[in-house]
Amino acid sequence: MREKTYAMLAQNMDRYISGETISRALGITRAAVLKHIHLFQSDGAVINSVNNRGHKLLSYADRLKSEYILPFIKDCPVNIIWYENIGSTNKEAKTLAIAGLPEIACVTAEEQIAGRGRMGRAWVSPKHKGIYASLLLRPLVSAEGAPGITVLIALAVCRTLRSEGLAAKIKWPNDVLIKGKKICGILTEISTNLDGVEYIICGFGLNANLEKKDIPNELKDIATSVYLEKGDFICRTKLLAEVLNAFWEYYQSFLKSGLKELINVYNEFSALHGKTITLISAGHEETGHFIGFDEQAALLMDVNGQIKKYIAGEISLRGFE
Ligand code: BTN
Repeated sequence: MREKTYAMLAQNMDRYISGETISRALGITRAAVLKHIHLFQSDGAVINSVNNRGHKLLSYADRLKSEYILPFIKDCPVNIIWYENIGSTNKEAKTLAIAGLPEIACVTAEEQIAGRGRMGRAWVSPKHKGIYASLLLRPLVSAEGAPGITVLIALAVCRTLRSEGLAAKIKWPNDVLIKGKKICGILTEISTNLDGVEYIICGFGLNANLEKKDIPNELKDIATSVYLEKGDFICRTKLLAEVLNAFWEYYQSFLKSGLKELINVYNEFSALHGKTITLISAGHEETGHFIGFDEQAALLMDVNGQIKKYIAGEISLRGFE
């Protein structure tokens, strides 16, 4: 009922809606409506309440909780599991996966105490500033197809940021950049068994409202946030809902025909066009000219006239303006 109360307020932002109307529509007491409203306010929502008129939502709640995200979700049947703080949403999603939680679940947190990045790095996760989310998926695909999930999240984040007017680009395979600075990192963990994929955890950290002071000195030149790019705070709940909506669309296409239908847009969103890149793969460094991606999102590079294909690797972040 909390979710429905919030949805009613969110759908009527242009006017006052009385406690009586909400209580009758949802079959709950007016006291219960008031209790929900107080909770929304303590979660950062600005609600104007006027005697004899009712309640008007002026700005959205700012917690990555199910009730604040679902009103913006179109078709994605996502189960959102929220924590005020946690070690790592990826780790928690993994525990839930092992316990048998079905897809599609999304573990969110306001803060991570031990946020994990790729290559054993940490992920800076200040409270109420970023989006820290891990999707639990159980697609019926082979182990070789599983890394494609990273592509879907990268596409979804990139499309969402572009719809906010930001020139987001994907740096294969796991980063989204704006003007060469990282705004989102993705950490995908795959568990397979003899039948193929058992589950996939796809965690992403999206720097939404991080200010300069929230970014450690050593990352200031290479990291950015939506706030720093737009000069304005963004509604994290709506942003996450948009990422999930876009992801769901891409996921349907992926389940039907792999990355085939998506690779054109992936190529279009790539930050690597026209670049000479140095790629580290399996401890080996190679420099060449970026050509594009094949239908499995493997990177194609021209190394001294020879076309080479890479299914995994790391590209240095410098030089992507
Ligand atoms: C990287 O660029 O190194 C990947 C960063 C991934 C960070 C996200 S935040 C949510 C999820 N939980 C984690 O511990 N890590 C991922």
